[in-house]
Amino acid sequence: MQAKIKVKLKQNSYDIIVGINIINKTGDLIKSLIKGKRILIVSNKKIFKLYGNILLQSLKKYYDCSVFLIGDGEKYKNIHTLLSIFNKCAEIRLDRNCGIAALGGGVVGDIAGFAASTYMRGINLIHIPTSLVAQADSSIGGKTGIDLKAGKNLVGSFYQPRIVITDISLLSTLPEVEFKNGLTEVIKYGIIMDAPFFYFLKRNLEKIKKRDKKVLFYMVKKSIQNKVKIVEKDEKETSGLRAILNYGHTIGHAIESAGGYKLYKHGEAVAIGIYIAALIAYKMKICSKATFIEQKQILKLFNLIKPLKKIKISDILKKIIIDKKAINDKIRFILTKKIGYVSFIQNIDLNLIKRGLEEYNNYFFTDRDTID
Ligand SMILES: NC(=O)c1ccc[n+]([C@@H]2O[C@H](COP(=O)([O-])OP(=O)(O)OC[C@H]3O[C@@H](n4cnc5c(N)ncnc54)[C@H](O)[C@@H]3O)[C@@H](O)[C@H]2O)c1
Ligand SMILES: [Zn+2]
Repeated sequence: MQAKIKVKLKQNSYDIIVGINIINKTGDLIKSLIKGKRILIVSNKKIFKLYGNILLQSLKKYYDCSVFLIGDGEKYKNIHTLLSIFNKCAEIRLDRNCGIAALGGGVVGDIAGFAASTYMRGINLIHIPTSLVAQADSSIGGKTGIDLKAGKNLVGSFYQPRIVITDISLLSTLPEVEFKNGLTEVIKYGIIMDAPFFYFLKRNLEKIKKRDKKVLFYMVKKSIQNKVKIVEKDEKETSGLRAILNYGHTIGHAIESAGGYKLYKHGEAVAIGIYIAALIAYKMKICSKATFIEQKQILKLFNLIKPLKKIKISDILKKIIIDKKAINDKIRFILTKKIGYVSFIQNIDLNLIKRGLEEYNNYFFTDRDTID
């Protein structure tokens, strides 16, 4: 089972190959694209132990391979790790015809991508995403980067890979919490732009939870196609269209940040953000009650939402104000009209967000669900 999704850009178009058990074809898939002799695989210890050998076997047919392993986790997506990747590139004498293969989740993909975009002003990049976040989201669209103490992803570039090789079978070893993290972004595509996909996800709940490979193949393929559609129209986030991918993220980012990036994973925080965005749209009569309930239900079915335990609503609001530079207590916000219909951006009163957060808390702290 294999599909090719073309990413058509003004310059540097490329293919995303999605399939089941295709990691062992990596060498064959890249040999016509990368003419140099050497490939540097960037990964982390955990992932390399699982999939490093199979990748090496496949690449060794055509290339001299070196491996550089970074620490596991967001805290390693920093300038020190980046510098160590640059030094490794220099040590093994990578040149512009050679390439970096990023084998890992979004952390590896973002930092290895940034290294590839800047080393010698840009060398070939191959993404081999291993987490659901990386397969359905971060390996698509060319955003690369690292974090600073002052904030996440503050330094980076737009840099397209030569190819993305997305092997669904790698998801079988992904921890449950990481799988759920990616599911939020997958569901987001259904809500913002693809109603049939939204209902597909709902219908296939059990198979997705059991990680049925055929269902995951379709789920990841559709997610990629949806993101590609947006990236093709707004590659560098200049027209505003790409911003709809941030549905649920304004509140989500604020929750993540108010929790010190420890209490909530990105996907959990965004799931709460989606719930509240849907609630606000309903309260503003932008969507029907049914549209709100449908979003709430799917998040509940996939077990994606949890209470806002230790975080104060006032802290979340403060983060939103700082992040969004609120003018007269109004902020730009993405709201859905209908499942699958392009969301639009409105000026939202901060009070509405506050009430949304309070109602979300009531939903957990009382038995009574005030909305349905
Ligand atoms: N560039 C973009 O457009 C974009 C989009 C979304 C997120 N991101 C970035 O992506 C990062 C988050 O990515 P992530 O959620 O993949 O986190 P991650 O890279 O930290 O991976 C999550 C965890 O899963 C492990 N893992 C990954 N694949 C595995 C597998 N197949 N089997 C077993 N374990 C596996 C990793 O080692 C890690 O411990 C963040 O830094 C975020 O900023 C970037
Ligand atoms: Zn996200």
